[in-house]
Amino acid sequence: MTDTTNPTSPARRALAPPVAEPTARHEIAVEINGETIEAEVESRLLLTDFLRDRVRLTGTHIGCEQGSCGACTVLLDDLPVRSCLMLAPQVDGRSIRTVEGLAAPDAALSPMQQAFCDHHGLQCGFCTPGFLMTLTSLAERETPVTLDDLDHHLDSSFCRCTGYVNIRAAARHALGLVEPQLVPEPMQGEG
Ligand code: FES
Ligand code: FES
Repeated sequence: MTDTTNPTSPARRALAPPVAEPTARHEIAVEINGETIEAEVESRLLLTDFLRDRVRLTGTHIGCEQGSCGACTVLLDDLPVRSCLMLAPQVDGRSIRTVEGLAAPDAALSPMQQAFCDHHGLQCGFCTPGFLMTLTSLAERETPVTLDDLDHHLDSSFCRCTGYVNIRAAARHALGLVEPQLVPEPMQGEG
């Protein structure tokens, strides 16, 4: 019979509520959209939660929280990362850009944002910050961008509304990419 009266028995420990383990705290300084933010954060604080709840930049969205959907994408030192897969202490001393940092100080939209407006690249807008950040990193790349590069980046985020057609058209426009013209096959007997 299982002995649950002995406080050191495994059966008794399994019944006990989990012990609240103390978590370390860290002083961090991170540049966010050009402004240095200093904060004390817990070891386990997700970067998404730090941005949304502590810095109040709620444009970074939370979808799957497991690295699949891309809604939480931000630029870390100018490269796209899933902020739901990073901890706030990991960004100490680094630079982050969020969707709030894309427009100019006079509120003029960035070329990628403007292209999304012009080509109706969004419907509900939930996925839009993630797409804008990953496509902005592509637009800022120094090496030439191809349609394959674009499709690879579009693969990194989920959109449940648009069917991707208008997002792709917006990005193509902003990136200056031209779709190759399909040459129709000659009909049998022609030529
Ligand atoms: Fe981060 Fe989905 S919320 S990838
Ligand atoms: Fe709604 Fe993409 S516009 S999920």
